[in-house]
Amino acid sequence: MTIRILPPTTVNRIAAGEVVERPASVVKELVENSIDAGARRIDVIIRDGGRSFLSVADDGAGMQPDELSLALERHATSKLAGDDLQQIQTLGFRGEALPSIGSVSRMAVISRPAGADTAFAITVEGGAKSEPAPAARSPGTTTEVRDLFFATPARLKFLKAESTERGHALDAVKRLAMAHPQIAFSLGDGSRSLLNLAPAQGDFLAARLDRVGAIMGNKFAENALPVEATREGISLTGHIGLPTLNRGNAALQFLFVNGRPVRDKLLFGAVRGAYRDFLAHDRHPLLALFLDVPPDQVDINVHPAKTEVRFQSPGLVRGLIVSALKHALADAGHRASTTVSHQAMGAFRPMGHNQGNSGVAGNYGYRPPSSGLSEDATPYHAPLTGLDGAPSARSETEFAGPGDDAAGRSNWPLGVARAQLHETYIIAQTEDGIVIVDQHAAHERLVYEDMKAALASSGVKRQGLLIPEVVEMSEAEATRVVAHADELAEMGLVVEAFGPGAVVVREMPALLGEVDAGALVRDLADDLAELGEALSLKDKLADISSTMACHGSVRAGRRLNAEEMNALLRRMEITPHAGQCNHGRPTYVELKLADIEKLFGRR
Ligand SMILES: Nc1ncnc2c1ncn2[C@@H]1O[C@H](COP(=O)(O)OP(=O)(O)O)[C@@H](O)[C@H]1O
Ligand SMILES: [Mg+2]
Repeated sequence: MTIRILPPTTVNRIAAGEVVERPASVVKELVENSIDAGARRIDVIIRDGGRSFLSVADDGAGMQPDELSLALERHATSKLAGDDLQQIQTLGFRGEALPSIGSVSRMAVISRPAGADTAFAITVEGGAKSEPAPAARSPGTTTEVRDLFFATPARLKFLKAESTERGHALDAVKRLAMAHPQIAFSLGDGSRSLLNLAPAQGDFLAARLDRVGAIMGNKFAENALPVEATREGISLTGHIGLPTLNRGNAALQFLFVNGRPVRDKLLFGAVRGAYRDFLAHDRHPLLALFLDVPPDQVDINVHPAKTEVRFQSPGLVRGLIVSALKHALADAGHRASTTVSHQAMGAFRPMGHNQGNSGVAGNYGYRPPSSGLSEDATPYHAPLTGLDGAPSARSETEFAGPGDDAAGRSNWPLGVARAQLHETYIIAQTEDGIVIVDQHAAHERLVYEDMKAALASSGVKRQGLLIPEVVEMSEAEATRVVAHADELAEMGLVVEAFGPGAVVVREMPALLGEVDAGALVRDLADDLAELGEALSLKDKLADISSTMACHGSVRAGRRLNAEEMNALLRRMEITPHAGQCNHGRPTYVELKLADIEKLFGRR
């Protein structure tokens, strides 16, 4: 075979292979062009999942007939003034999208520049271009794409169900819309509207929050914390969800670099790092984060679809994100997401009339708290007795019945402990509601935060065991634990090898109190297997302290006296992140009196 230069249509189809993966990629490229053209309103139509027809119309700058013809040529762009790839301010710059799309579909572009009195249309079919001809249109540009991939049947076969392709296209538009709140967007299938976003008003950050809320929903807007940080010319803004509002995948994590939606490993990794302390490995927070980086410090030309970027100083970017997010979460203090109490109230709702039994109690999924609760709860009531079983003077005053809330007492954010139920839940009365605390989850968080604070300052204090404890485990586990003995010692746990398949524990972290050393060490062995070598030492320490905290905390099922309960509540109020345990579960739920009253039809 002889070497030859490929014909333009083949070259364009090869480029299309990278740039045009599915209908959503066409939508993305066209909407980006509309944004670059300064559009104020962008309307997308997608039929049959984009397979038979899709179009994007805008009211942007438009093109003259000669520009229209040029725009369809490969490597033709109006977006690189010089030949400098260092200063890209637009979403496009490769001059590849239109010729690529035109090479694999039947495409028409109709455009009228502002000030011109007529529009021109040009068509391309499988790469063959027509001459521009007069057409009718208001100022702006419409690009229509029919029979996508008709020229590349192999690609056509990979398209998924209509609803899947439509979903991807919708997602692409949402992402771009978030970063450009001042532009109105719509997406429909010709008859049904699937997205309709009015231009958001006000200053840019407020407008963006409106837009993000419109896309992510009220739940997010209500449970979002603002993020704002700058480091060495790089700025990070946006909103992140409280950890208790989490989901099983990262689909609601929207990340942007200079207004460009990206799915970048470094950025996702930084988010994971920031939430590591608050979420289980398989749960993901919701967020929309916008990174603004001086154009010469980021290379956006590393991926044909421009969804990945390369930073000049990745460490700086990661550090900025992790610390900004951690600060925002710390500022949230003991706040747990409102969804938690909404869910709780939902579960409390009367179970309905089809439950058969029409008796008062039988009609409800719970006992009315008025008289029933006080009687039924008596056996579980442990608050009036100290740990030794004798009533303590202090707890009597603290627990004197309702209605005696002396000033200064009822206005603790988490209230005054009134009872412990099922030796697991602390019930506290606040000024305007009831707080239910999961004592284990709450204490676990407190021990963990203590542990982190100790690690950061003086180191974790150890306590020697009177009788060193031998813990049996598999040989592989024992090897793993011993291999990490130095790290564990730093955290207050001193272990040594004890023949194959066993270790001996000599000292324990003092702040854990009395714990089952065997169970703790076996859990740690599991942790270490799971964490492997992938994580940095610091991340490992965080995971290990989390496991230790779990073992060191008050178990569900332990009786607490009034002082202990109130001490726990007061510590929660001043401890960062006390609103959720280390796995993102809430540590408490608050029920407002107003909501409870509604439940009983009092409002
Ligand atoms: N909707 C539009 N409004 C105005 N001009 C457009 C529009 N779409 C494309 N163009 C013009 O066509 C050129 C080529 O577009 P494209 O192939 O997407 O490459 P790029 O966006 O990388 O420049 C753009 O640089 C722009 O000048
Ligand atoms: Mg483009």
